[in-house]
Amino acid sequence: MARQVGNLIYKYGNDILQSEEFQKAFGQTHHKYMTVAEHSLGVAVVSLRISQFLYRLHIPVKDRTLIIAALCHDLGILGRTEKYRNNFECYGRHPLDSLPIIREIIGEEEYDEIIEDSVRRHMWPLTPIPPRHREGLILTTADKVSAVMERVGRSPARTLDLDQFRSPCEKQEAQHTS
Ligand SMILES: [Fe+2]
Ligand SMILES: [Fe+2]
Repeated sequence: MARQVGNLIYKYGNDILQSEEFQKAFGQTHHKYMTVAEHSLGVAVVSLRISQFLYRLHIPVKDRTLIIAALCHDLGILGRTEKYRNNFECYGRHPLDSLPIIREIIGEEEYDEIIEDSVRRHMWPLTPIPPRHREGLILTTADKVSAVMERVGRSPARTLDLDQFRSPCEKQEAQHTS
């Protein structure tokens, strides 16, 4: 099951995983114990688990869209200390700042309204407007579940072989810091 989830993330998220922005995300701490990249991979894992559960209830979910949104939802937060004056500003703005980065990585043809709305609204209910699509509701749920699991030392990304998602350069960095 873990391998199947990893394969799906690799299949649909390959361009994102190899992008400069995502590789940079391996270098920024998030939720105290994680990096932005590890957190985003954890959110993708939980999102796919929810999708698999819904599939059994005959509720279809666009897995490709979900993986793109999960991997990219926090990319706008990169460089947070230089970009935002405080956490409040960061909560409100990083989802919006993720959007142009996603467009850049996946291109206009692949970018759609579900990705846009899901990423824009992923901080709900901290921000007032809920996501419009089921993929967005899954993302916002998976984001919170993943954050809680990270806090208790059980990151959902631990089921993945994280090295397969790191560039050779990032692998070297990780070896130096571990
Ligand atoms: Fe976020
Ligand atoms: Fe997040």
